[in-house]
Parts: sequence; structure tokens; C-alpha cells
Amino acid sequence: MKEMILEKIRQNPEAFMPYHQYIELALYHPKGGYYMREQTKIGREGDFYTTPAMAPVFGKFLGKWLCRSLKKAGLPPVICELGGGGGQMAFNVLKGFAEEDKEFSRGLVYYVIEASPYHQKSIKHLTSHDSRVQILSALEYLPSIEGIIFSNEFFDAFPVDVAVKQDGEWKEAGITFAGDELKETVRDISDVASRQLIQEWDVPSYMNRIEVPLQMMEAYETIIEKLRRGYLLTIDYGMDRDEWFSPIRKEGTLRAYRNHQLLESILDAPGEADITFTVPFGLLRGRGAQMGCREEFWGGQAEFLIEGGILEELIPHADSDPFSQASKHNRQIRQLIMGESISDYFRVLWQSKNIR
Ligand SMILES: C[S@@+](CC[C@H](N)C(=O)[O-])C[C@H]1O[C@@H](n2cnc3c(N)ncnc32)[C@H](O)[C@@H]1O
Repeated sequence: MKEMILEKIRQNPEAFMPYHQYIELALYHPKGGYYMREQTKIGREGDFYTTPAMAPVFGKFLGKWLCRSLKKAGLPPVICELGGGGGQMAFNVLKGFAEEDKEFSRGLVYYVIEASPYHQKSIKHLTSHDSRVQILSALEYLPSIEGIIFSNEFFDAFPVDVAVKQDGEWKEAGITFAGDELKETVRDISDVASRQLIQEWDVPSYMNRIEVPLQMMEAYETIIEKLRRGYLLTIDYGMDRDEWFSPIRKEGTLRAYRNHQLLESILDAPGEADITFTVPFGLLRGRGAQMGCREEFWGGQAEFLIEGGILEELIPHADSDPFSQASKHNRQIRQLIMGESISDYFRVLWQSKNIR
């Protein structure tokens, strides 16, 4: 992968590759891209954990909750999951949905947008080739729908550009080469949309480096356009504007993980590590409002789960075996809602469109 990237940079007259292109290749190149490879990425054997893979109760609860939300708003049973990963979420959402209303679940159409053929196979396998599940490799193939579009850790996997401040002025960081190594370099920002976004953002003066998530914004706009009527649920590792622009993040949030270890540089192992950034929810909230979405909930994951009724899922039992099904189930719920858990890092944005 590194060789191919070096070759592309050498062929470029400017010897420059924008970060978004580097990340696109490193994550999604059909042959060597990290997400496209035939290997486990999520969970203990992989490089990072996600909530659906760690706690099946999370997907099951969401399944029930999504079912209730559709029925309450008089929406058809249509759901789209963005970035389905290994399929743990789909498996558990389908289970929870059917537990909530078996009859309604029979007519369910469950789209999953997933680019990775390896993950597509895993989703098919986990959902036992359920005919209600339709896997699409890209957002553009999703028809316009009435229902719910939701995601968990989808936006943090988008390729981003990077801007750095030099002598008080924002420049574009990118990749060049030194011998056989990749290294960062800087040029003037040529892309109009990037310049505009940075200007509109009103970035505090102490920030030295920021991610510029144009592809994420474009995808988010497409998602809102595809949703004729219904809800949009976005769960991700991210934060609002003021928290994102904090002095502790003044060097940006872009990072790479391999075997659960943070790499020193995202240029270290293209194709072998997950590359991610902290989602600036402020941008999504602002654009959502501009595009006619109403914010129904914004806050932390634990708060969302409690307000949504996850405590009602606790199973009363007098069993002293910590490994019993009921003990494990209750432990997962506790871990999702208590402080210093994975939920601390996740935010939830629940928006409606054309719902009165
Ligand atoms: C970080 S993983 C999260 C997986 C899953 N949602 C979970 O929480 O376990 C992101 C997934 O989204 C997929 N993905 C990211 N961007 C995508 C895009 N633009 N189109 C389709 N799939 C995408 C990746 O292939 C990967 O499987």
C-alpha cells in the first residue's frame, strides 16, 4: 500500500497528495484498503472496539426503540443503517425490533450501506441471509425513503483534509515523500470549499491544526435529502463545537489504531490501521437545521439510553452466578450507562424531518 501511495505522489508534478486522498486509499482502496481487507477489525481480535460489537444489548435496545419511534410517527417499517461493519448491529436491531412487534417486523425493509465486501459477507452471514436485509455498497444506491436512517461510528471513518496554521495563516497539509518514506508537507489552500468552511467555522486562534471534513458534510447532506420523512439517528465518537475546539485538541484529532494501539503517525501503516477523527457534531447540527431537520435530542449516549428506557430492559433475577445470561445482560446495561464507560465518548443526535 505504501509503495502504491509513494508511486502516486512521485507521479504528481507537485509531489503532493491531499490527506483525504491518502485516507481514502489507506481505508477504502479495493485491494489494500484497511476496511476492504479480509481480516477482523472490530473486537478483541481486531484493532478497535465498537459498542454494538461489545454489547449486544445496545443493538437490541435500539431495535425496540426504532420500532416504537416508527410506529408512533405512523412511518412505514423502513430502516437504513449506515456503515454496517461486521453486522452485529443489524443482527441485534432485527432481534429487538421483532421482540417489540413481531407483526410489524415482518414487513421491515432494512437497508445497510457498507462499502467493504468483507463486512458485507459478515453481515449476510450474521443475519442468516434474511431477505428483509438489503446491502448496498454506497449511499448513492439508497432510494429516497420514509423511515429512519441511523449510524454508529460511520462519520468518524470519513476521509478528511487537514489544515495547519503557519505564521497565522491556514494552509493545507498533505503528504509528500523523502526517499522511500512518506512525510507531511504544506501548501496554500487551493480548494474553495475548504477555505469557505474554515472561514465560516470561526476557528479559535489557539488552534494549530484542524480536520476539514468536506466528504462527511457532503454525505450528511445526501442522507438528509434521501430521507423524505422520518428520523435521523447519529451516534458517534464526537463533540460539539466548543468542546471540539478545545486547547487540548489544538493539534487536531486525526489518529490511527492498530491492534488497539495508537500509532505515532497516521502515515505509519497505510492499509494496516484504522484511521479516524473525532466528529465535529456542531457542523452536522448546523447543517441539519439549515436543511429543515428538527433536533429532537442532542447529548451523551448514556443520557440518551436512559431517556429512551434502557433501564426497563434490566432483568430481575436472584441468581448469584455472575456468568448467567441475566447477569451478563444486566452488566452490559450497567456498563453502557455508568460513568467511565464507552458511552462517555459517544454523542447522540436524533433529528426529525417532516414529522409534526
Ligand atoms: C468504524 S466502522 C463501524 C461499524 C459499525 N457501525 C459498528 O459500530 O460496529 C465503519 C464502517 O463503515 C463503513 N463505511 C465507512 N464509510 C463508508 C461509506 N462512505 N460508504 C459505505 N460504507 C462505509 C466501513 O467499511 C466500516 O465497515
